[in-house]
Amino acid sequence: MNNILNKNINVLGIETTCDETAAAIVSLNEKGESNLLSNIVHSQYNEHSKFGGIVPEVAARSHLKNISFIVAEAIKQANISNEEVNAVSVSCGPGLIGGLLVGSMFGKAYSLSKSIPFIPINHLEAHILSPRLFQNIEFPYLALLVSGGHTQLLYVEDLDKISRIGTTLDDSVGEAFDKASIILDLGWPGGKNIEKAAENGDPQSYNLPRPMIKRNNADFSLSGLKTALFRIAEKETLNKKVKSNLAASFQSAATDVIEDRCLNAFKIIKKINNNCKNFVVVGGVAANKVIRKRLTNLSKMKNFSPYFPPVEICTDNGAMIAWNGIEKILKYGISNINDPDFEPRTRWPLDPMAKPIRNAKEPR
Ligand code: KG4
Ligand code: ZN
Repeated sequence: MNNILNKNINVLGIETTCDETAAAIVSLNEKGESNLLSNIVHSQYNEHSKFGGIVPEVAARSHLKNISFIVAEAIKQANISNEEVNAVSVSCGPGLIGGLLVGSMFGKAYSLSKSIPFIPINHLEAHILSPRLFQNIEFPYLALLVSGGHTQLLYVEDLDKISRIGTTLDDSVGEAFDKASIILDLGWPGGKNIEKAAENGDPQSYNLPRPMIKRNNADFSLSGLKTALFRIAEKETLNKKVKSNLAASFQSAATDVIEDRCLNAFKIIKKINNNCKNFVVVGGVAANKVIRKRLTNLSKMKNFSPYFPPVEICTDNGAMIAWNGIEKILKYGISNINDPDFEPRTRWPLDPMAKPIRNAKEPR
């Protein structure tokens, strides 16, 4: 890796793939030390919550309304001027086309006006590399990406060298949490609310299925768990106690599934590369304290070193986009990564060789 820079650089990261408008500044000094100088996130929860899910047109309009202010605020809080930004990284997919167009057009205009490189970033890769902004984690590693749009287990050999070893056959884990929260009338988005309600519940109060457990692969299936929860909730009076018990039972079942799938992924990884000892967990669901604890214990038992980004970097943000830009600058050189003609991609799989999933609902 060419990590010799002759000056300090500041990279602006922009994120607009889904329902967060976010921008951040990450700096890198001559010694190769990185620093997160600012991280501004506007979540569109209030704009979408009355619909119980993300409305693409509402999301696109909200990105357009907020992007200038969010970027200006990221630069201001980093305590630098526009002239001190050396490159702009933009999340160019996968995601919703309206948001992708807003982010990439804003980033292209910014890079053109300042004559600095425009670096297109794959949102999924940014999640997967995000813990490296905070800790020195060496490649190769196993990554579990658990977000609202994606659930994948990946073998990460290097930047741009990622193979998928497991994926969901239906819902993502984040989507399952969101749907469970709606079933229990706990609001949207659901992950945080389920976690909170579960704190006061008994995880053994309801017997929910653990789909895919003991199957000899690293794939997931979550839709049966959500349906089972729905069938039980239909028959119950959803008072506070019942909601807590159902939330705890759901979270426990989802965590058992994740744990079992990771256990198989550890075995698969060992066959690919017996020296692979690092395990990173990223994406919105990685913010869940119960899941963090269970996966930490599991990895230690199986001689893997577990890594998680800080909780505020699990959900979508600009810091991981700026950091991915820095990783590209370090690997390819700042004069080789300008790509102003890059067109945003609603689908942008990390592993183009991976078998497509039949009936896939969203970009994988
Ligand atoms: O990574 P992210 O912000 O967006 C995508 O790239 O999809 O992930 C959002 C997802 C949502 O489904 C949300 O419910 C889930 O992450 N999430 C959580 C928690 N916080 C966010 N799930 C479980 N527990 C949490 N504490
Ligand atoms: Zn994400």
